[in-house]
Amino acid sequence: MAEASRHDAWQAGDSYEAYMGRWSRQVAPQFLNWLAAPANLDWLEVGCGTGALSAAIVAQCRPRSLIAIDPSEGFIAKAKAKAKAKAKAKAKANVSDKCAEFRVGDAQSLALEDASQDMVVSALVLNFIPDKQKALAEMKRVARPGAIVGFYVWDYPGGGIEFMRAFWNAATALDPKALDLTEGRRFPFCTGDQLTAMAEEAGMASVECRMIEVATVFADFEDYWRPFTLGTRPAPGYCTSLDPGAQQRLKVRLQDTLPRQADGSIHLKARAWAIKALVP
Ligand SMILES: C[S@@+](CC[C@H](N)C(=O)[O-])C[C@H]1O[C@@H](n2cnc3c(N)ncnc32)[C@H](O)[C@@H]1O
Repeated sequence: MAEASRHDAWQAGDSYEAYMGRWSRQVAPQFLNWLAAPANLDWLEVGCGTGALSAAIVAQCRPRSLIAIDPSEGFIAKAKAKAKAKAKAKAKANVSDKCAEFRVGDAQSLALEDASQDMVVSALVLNFIPDKQKALAEMKRVARPGAIVGFYVWDYPGGGIEFMRAFWNAATALDPKALDLTEGRRFPFCTGDQLTAMAEEAGMASVECRMIEVATVFADFEDYWRPFTLGTRPAPGYCTSLDPGAQQRLKVRLQDTLPRQADGSIHLKARAWAIKALVP
């Protein structure tokens, strides 16, 4: 595994939820509002993780079907368990619910027929896929003519995920070598213009791009810091690779530099770039 990507471990669903899933869950409804899909469509979600976007699709879009794939067995298990619990609660309340079908799979070779889906979407995934153009070509292949392909990724080059930027600012001040691990360096193509160009290069039409911003509010410093100590994903992976002394120095630096409200809470923002395109 390349040096910069060695902390991209995707297995522990609970750790991911605490670190990133909770914020992706906030972007998802805004993204789906923007896609404005009618009910009763066949949906595919690529790289569903613990099911942040899948849950929003089921809740908001009344799909006819939803297949959600991810290569991580741990994340798929977590997404399945969450969807099952939700469907059970709804059944108790006598409300019918369509459960997503979660499968282990890879965006670069989707085990689906050509032209079989009406909506093909993905959240916070594209930058982690080794062959991004292959993944976009696959998303287009399985979409019916006239289908929508949509995805979002964080605005890494613009430093738009403020909680992550604060972490790396502190980490690189103490350990300049960590600069190569920062998402801004690793994913420079996560800009509106470049994502638009990538979708066009994949043969998609009427490509539109917009920014989605959400508030990331941490109840206190521990709420901010703890997810970094759980290890799932690049920055937490780096944090847990540090020896206890280095990790403590990083924690203290963040404690000293993060802006706090009077009640101790930390109010930051996170920006994502979203793309929507038509399959000709
Ligand atoms: C930041 S998480 C996003 C998860 C979820 N979509 C969300 O919004 O919370 C990135 C996801 O990309 C998945 N991923 C990495 N490589 C992939 C690939 N080749 N094909 C599909 N998904 C992939 C990871 O397993 C992980 O679940």
